[in-house]
Amino acid sequence: MNNFTYRNPVELVFGKGTIAELRRLVPQGDKVLFAYGGGSIKKNGVYDQVRAALEGRDVLEFAGIEPNPRYETCMKAVDLCRREGVGFLLAVGGGSVLDAVKFIAAAVPFQGEPWDILAKHAKVEAALPLGSVLTLPATGSEMNGNSVISRDETREKLAFYSPLVYPKFSILDPETTFTLPPRQTANGVVDAFAHTMEQYMTYPADAPLQDRMAEAILSTLIEIGPKLLEHPHDYQLRANMMWTATMALNGLIGLGVPQDWATHGIGHELTALYGMDHGQTLAVVMPAVWRFKFADKKAKLAQYAKRVWGVAGTEEEKAKAAIEKTEEFFRLLGVKTRLAEYGAENAVEQVPPRLAQRGVVLGERRDIGPDQVREILRLCAA
Ligand code: NZQ
Ligand code: ZN
Repeated sequence: MNNFTYRNPVELVFGKGTIAELRRLVPQGDKVLFAYGGGSIKKNGVYDQVRAALEGRDVLEFAGIEPNPRYETCMKAVDLCRREGVGFLLAVGGGSVLDAVKFIAAAVPFQGEPWDILAKHAKVEAALPLGSVLTLPATGSEMNGNSVISRDETREKLAFYSPLVYPKFSILDPETTFTLPPRQTANGVVDAFAHTMEQYMTYPADAPLQDRMAEAILSTLIEIGPKLLEHPHDYQLRANMMWTATMALNGLIGLGVPQDWATHGIGHELTALYGMDHGQTLAVVMPAVWRFKFADKKAKLAQYAKRVWGVAGTEEEKAKAAIEKTEEFFRLLGVKTRLAEYGAENAVEQVPPRLAQRGVVLGERRDIGPDQVREILRLCAA
């Protein structure tokens, strides 16, 4: 096992009726920016619950944060916060709203061009405090310090991490997710699955606890994913999904073990170029990364096939079955697994030069460069 330190400062408040806890959690005296997306929270009652809990507070609203949040939109909020002296940010929505608010938190006190936080990994020295009410289980953003922001002008989608942008608290009320459309529910299952895999599907690292925690998350997603689509108002299913997605990317299962993240790196390019949903990009790319890296990942693929899917056979047979079973699972959820199915076949030629320009290398062995990415994209083109 590799050395590690672990500190996760998020106060997680989980369960029915917990939005009312905002009264206690949002600090008194600060001007609050209440940021949300395109209006789903107005249709499902979440907006009203938030307003009721914040009654009597000095609240400014910022609406219209889009999926794959745009830098241009975030900067409007940054201006507003600077002008109005906002002291606390509240994100209410899915991963996109949370990520946007993390970037806004870091950008408000930033000296210079805030895009450098993403493009040049400029150090975040200060950030406004933030909290969240999550309405879409998928990204883990509610319990991590990551954020992914897109810029129209340059068609880039870039990530940053800072310990200063962990939410102070995150409220997870599973009832807020009853209104998720099937596509977003399925995307969320695929995203949480992929997060687990990015921290698991590498090579054996003598970390049996991390392995088994990851396998528990995968088994749970396989068990509840299809049921969620059939029973969108089942509280227990929604609750289990919410907790599972958080556990997939709050740092715990990745401690001391090698991590991959090639699927996410390639996937962000597909969203930037073709507007594919984040979950869709992962369903396409992940099986292709495994096919391309079959020899390196064979031992873990076979372990996963045996323990999670109950497959028997030789190592080779189990490893192959692992890839097929995973693809079948994504397709069962209604998420397609080929570039051509999204009209994105051109990625084979368009993505590698973009990565070359940025000097990107991916994978647990840092041996996936632009040429290898081209091969991976060929494997999932049609
Ligand atoms: O904007 P509104 O109207 O709220 O609608 C949203 C949006 O259209 C809707 N939605 C959210 N909650 C709903 C709901 N509709 C009905 N009922 C509800 N309860 O769902 C749509 C998608 O929302 P979005 O926030 O974009 O989805 P998701 O949570 O999947 O977030 C995706 C973003 O997170 C990034 C992705 O790259 C992408 O930009 N990621 C962030 C990560 C992190 N911070 O750690 C890690 C991930 O790997 C990922 O990269
Ligand atoms: Zn993801």
